[in-house]
Amino acid sequence: MININIIILLFSLFYNEIKSFPNENISEVFAWKQINYDFDGVLYYQNSDAKKIPNGVHFDQDLNDSEKFFIQYNNVPVGFEVYGKRVFVTVPRRRYGIPSTLNYVDTKSKSPALKPYPNSQGLISVYRPRIDVCDRLWVIDTGLLEVPGNRTQVQKPAIVVYDLKTDKQILRYELKDTDLVNERTPGGLTSITVDVTRNNCDDAYAYINDLATVGMVVFSLKSKNSWRLSHPSFAYDEEFLNFTVAGYTINWKDSLFSIALSEPDREGHRTAYYHPLVSPLEFSVNTKYLKSGKPIDRYLKLVGTKGANTQSGSHDYHEDLKTMYYANVAQDAILCWQVENKMAPENVGIAVQDHKRLVYISDLKVIGDDVWVLVNKMPVFVFSVLNVNDYNFFIHK
Ligand SMILES: *[C@@H]1O[C@H](CO)[C@@H](O)[C@H](O)[C@H]1NC(C)=O
Ligand SMILES: *[C@@H]1O[C@H](CO)[C@@H](O)[C@H](O)[C@H]1NC(C)=O
Ligand SMILES: *[C@@H]1O[C@H](CO)[C@@H](O)[C@H](O)[C@H]1NC(C)=O
Ligand SMILES: *[C@@H]1O[C@H](CO)[C@@H](O)[C@H](O)[C@H]1NC(C)=O
Repeated sequence: MININIIILLFSLFYNEIKSFPNENISEVFAWKQINYDFDGVLYYQNSDAKKIPNGVHFDQDLNDSEKFFIQYNNVPVGFEVYGKRVFVTVPRRRYGIPSTLNYVDTKSKSPALKPYPNSQGLISVYRPRIDVCDRLWVIDTGLLEVPGNRTQVQKPAIVVYDLKTDKQILRYELKDTDLVNERTPGGLTSITVDVTRNNCDDAYAYINDLATVGMVVFSLKSKNSWRLSHPSFAYDEEFLNFTVAGYTINWKDSLFSIALSEPDREGHRTAYYHPLVSPLEFSVNTKYLKSGKPIDRYLKLVGTKGANTQSGSHDYHEDLKTMYYANVAQDAILCWQVENKMAPENVGIAVQDHKRLVYISDLKVIGDDVWVLVNKMPVFVFSVLNVNDYNFFIHK
């Protein structure tokens, strides 16, 4: 008996060593225990101003930024983008006390304070931003204050575009009522994929996922028009609910989650690969059909299945390697698949896996020859309590 206990003790010591052993394939860019803000040089690093405004809703025009209500614990970063030395970090307003939804950092410190992105004042809640080849930052503002028990649609969902050379807003396009199904739709608009080439910046398209009411919204910059597409392949699959992350059962019914584009063909069209989060399947459609504004049903293709435990959020494509990378939340991993191979479990690999540092990859981007991820332990925040003395939010590459 005693011997067995000693063996178990030794084993668990050894196992803990393995768990904390550095993974040479993950390089940390940033790590935060909690999120701080820097408003014009005024640092907000605790709930110091928490009592100033009841309820923490701060859309009152009479207040300046540094007076806005801040509940530090509620600030969970979800999306990111990279522009030279500047890294954008979004904090969707899913609780009270979030002073700024679109932010950036431009320092090399380990846990930099977030600075509100200039001219982003009109935004209510932003998930995953994207930068295009024309130096523009695109976001879809849900317009929704998504506080449990008090969801408030503050303004209409809108596509907002900034010129990164001047930091000026250059477009605000409100989605049409026909782009939305019901009051749940805005909360499902969690990413935007921009389709444009460098020599044709005016002729851009954006593809927005709707994970809540199962659809895709297409926007044409040239015609300043948008339309909604629906298809059963956008829907989550009941059979693949209840996977576990950090020991918690995830029952989120997330449908269409991510749309990733291949390189353009000779006519300038691309393959759009897409998947619901709760599904092992990948689908595709040529973007010429998305752009056409006509029914797309017969042009959608099932690409294949990734296999068990491959529920994934964001994905992105490396053109030279012709490889797709997936934020595989069900295995704390990044999956990879070379698109010229048949998509089947035997052709889908785990590029990196880490049960400590890749717990809930909330956003993923291929940048040059690196895969960048934002990790946020979201299931711990939702189902339990984050340890604020531990690192909880990361950007790795
Ligand atoms: C790092 O990647 C290499 C090559 O894929 C792999 O052999 C190695 O096991 C990885 N290391 C860790 C700690 O995952
Ligand atoms: C915001 O208002 C407070 C209180 O009136 C003031 O002390 C502070 O200087 C103002 N900040 C800015 C940036 O205007
Ligand atoms: C709900 O939110 C609105 C606006 O954000 C606020 O005015 C109202 O007081 C809130 N209601 C409750 C019950 O918290
Ligand atoms: C997921 O969990 C719910 C609630 O426990 C259960 O009703 C459902 O059958 C489960 N589905 C799967 C595929 O495990």
